[in-house]
Amino acid sequence: MGKKVTYQGAQADVQWDGRLCIHISECGRAKNDLFVGGREPWCEPDRVSCEEVVDVVHRCPSGALTYTRKDGGPAEVPGSENVVRVMYNGPLYVNGDLEIDGAAADMDGVRFRAALCRCGHSKNKPFCDNSHEEANFKDYGAVGEKGDGQESKGGTLKVSRAPNGPLLLNGNFTIVAASGRKAWSGTRAALCRCGHSQNKPFCDGSHKDAGFQAD
Ligand code: FES
Repeated sequence: MGKKVTYQGAQADVQWDGRLCIHISECGRAKNDLFVGGREPWCEPDRVSCEEVVDVVHRCPSGALTYTRKDGGPAEVPGSENVVRVMYNGPLYVNGDLEIDGAAADMDGVRFRAALCRCGHSKNKPFCDNSHEEANFKDYGAVGEKGDGQESKGGTLKVSRAPNGPLLLNGNFTIVAASGRKAWSGTRAALCRCGHSQNKPFCDGSHKDAGFQAD
């Protein structure tokens, strides 16, 4: 963890950020030779087209992968909607036009895609580091509330952190339950990041009784 590596190609470079990778393997499972486990180097951008580089990098849910095109093609831009996906026993996957408080200035990928801790145990808050597995975090990702119904029209989604409390989201966004159901839409929400709420993914104030401590 902690390192950032650039894999250079003639048409595009690929960057991998070890501070963010949680090894979901969307890249390694792609049916092409861009990423091949056990190969040295693991990533070879010249093995595929620029379009395939873009496609595979966009699959990365944590923002660990980014690319720099050298063929004159467009740089990554945010999706037209901000979406928060609640993962089964895992983090919140967020994508869109993101401004995440606590992200280092050189974490380029989390402007578009990020995995945010909601179990309370990450040592890399606000990002998930897979500590939810060891912590045996259980939440199946149901969403009970509907929000104010405002449809997401894009724009920046700001994610800040209440000290010792929830994630505070401001902007147009939707929340998708782990079932895949588009469950909630609106412009602001406090989402649990201590792991104790009885109304996940929303905060219900349980962080106080739980003694949750985090910046
Ligand atoms: S949800 Fe993954 S470390 Fe907390």
